[in-house]
Amino acid sequence: MEFRVKRAPRIDAEITVPGDKSISHRAVIIAALSNGVCVLRGFLASEDCMRTVGALRACGIKIEQPEPDMLIVHGKKRHLTPPPGPIDCGNSATTMRLLTGLLAGQPFDSRLVGEATLSKRPMERVITPLRLMGAKIVAEGPNDSPPLRITGSNLHGIDYASPIASAQVKSAVLLAGLFAKGKTTVHEPSLSRNHTELMLNYFLVRTAKDENSGITIFGDQVPESRDFTIPGDISSAAFWLIAAAAQPGGHLMVRDCGLNDTRTTLLGVLIRMGAQVREAIEDVDQIEPRGTVEITGAPLKGTVIQGKEIPQLIDELPILAIAGALASGTTTIRNAQELRVKETDRIAAIAHNLRAMGAQVIELNDGLEIHGRGSLRGARVASFGDHRIAMAFAIAGLFADGDTIVQDAQCVQESYPEFGKALDEIMNPKRVRMTTPVISSLNPQKPDDE
Ligand code: S3P
Repeated sequence: MEFRVKRAPRIDAEITVPGDKSISHRAVIIAALSNGVCVLRGFLASEDCMRTVGALRACGIKIEQPEPDMLIVHGKKRHLTPPPGPIDCGNSATTMRLLTGLLAGQPFDSRLVGEATLSKRPMERVITPLRLMGAKIVAEGPNDSPPLRITGSNLHGIDYASPIASAQVKSAVLLAGLFAKGKTTVHEPSLSRNHTELMLNYFLVRTAKDENSGITIFGDQVPESRDFTIPGDISSAAFWLIAAAAQPGGHLMVRDCGLNDTRTTLLGVLIRMGAQVREAIEDVDQIEPRGTVEITGAPLKGTVIQGKEIPQLIDELPILAIAGALASGTTTIRNAQELRVKETDRIAAIAHNLRAMGAQVIELNDGLEIHGRGSLRGARVASFGDHRIAMAFAIAGLFADGDTIVQDAQCVQESYPEFGKALDEIMNPKRVRMTTPVISSLNPQKPDDE
């Protein structure tokens, strides 16, 4: 499958995006450990999140899916059963890393496998703290890479200072901590997304935060079953937000979007680049803030993105690099070496594709320097099997002269299965109004509407 993209007409739309990927993984895991039935709405039924569902089912949890975005999870009070065979995590590092933490403290053995690309990704970052807790994990691949063989063990709490700000590491340790004796604390060099902490609290699991943002979980607790509605994924919304931001006069409203402040750093960067952004939190009842983001486009200018901002917009960096290429001046991304160990080496992939589209880019060890020219030229570009590279370059194509073809785009199924449909609607706004509610014109009857 490929995306064939042409220049976008004026964007003036109101959209919703599918459920948040990170929150979907956490909601189904913690619901599965709870003491009863939990109904999850707004669940992201993407390939990655369904890998987590499959893993939990393999461990004896009944999970019904009466609608694509609705799960009924029959929590079994922390009681999991041995999986009948290896658990296939597909290409989902979140599934593999969180499950490693969860399974390390079970009274049975398990083995986690994944696709070739996942098998190249670093797992040492979760294996090291889990071993300190008493876990027995053997990485069968070179350099602590998957498959992972876990021998269920009795765990004890630790106080762990993670060398990287990674929500997956933090979450693996906290989930192990739920099954460990005593208390488990994780410190990170700067705050990564905090969905695990929030979700545990929502399910009435006691945690504590210290003055250095360390997070502590107390072992032996049973999550209290509750229903939960997952908000839209701001990392998916980011593609459309940046498309509108980079189009002077472009206008977009994203409704029912997750607005957790460990995920909204992107909006501050877009303001710095010159876009007008309005964010309204409309609901915090279910612990994860959600609401509307409204964006009005402008001629963008370059910026510097680095330091503590990086972990809080790590998934938005590919599309922010496109914004940089469309902006005037230089956009510099530093301290983002983590991009090299995502679904592909995103620094190399962005540099390669942007150059193919005529941009001037310098690849740095830990980031990129992009000399914006305000325009791009259409090209045939690769996804490198990476969903966010595929989507970022489809958006780049909306701003290019001539056609852009993004090859091997089926990987968008991992986080945003409806992306291709939404892209089509942005390119053909007339058809939008007639066919689908995913994206609709704000004022279709307006006389000056284009
Ligand atoms: C995620 C954390 C981030 C992010 C990934 C999802 C999560 O990874 O890039 O897409 O759900 O915990 P790291 O923990 O490796 O930073």
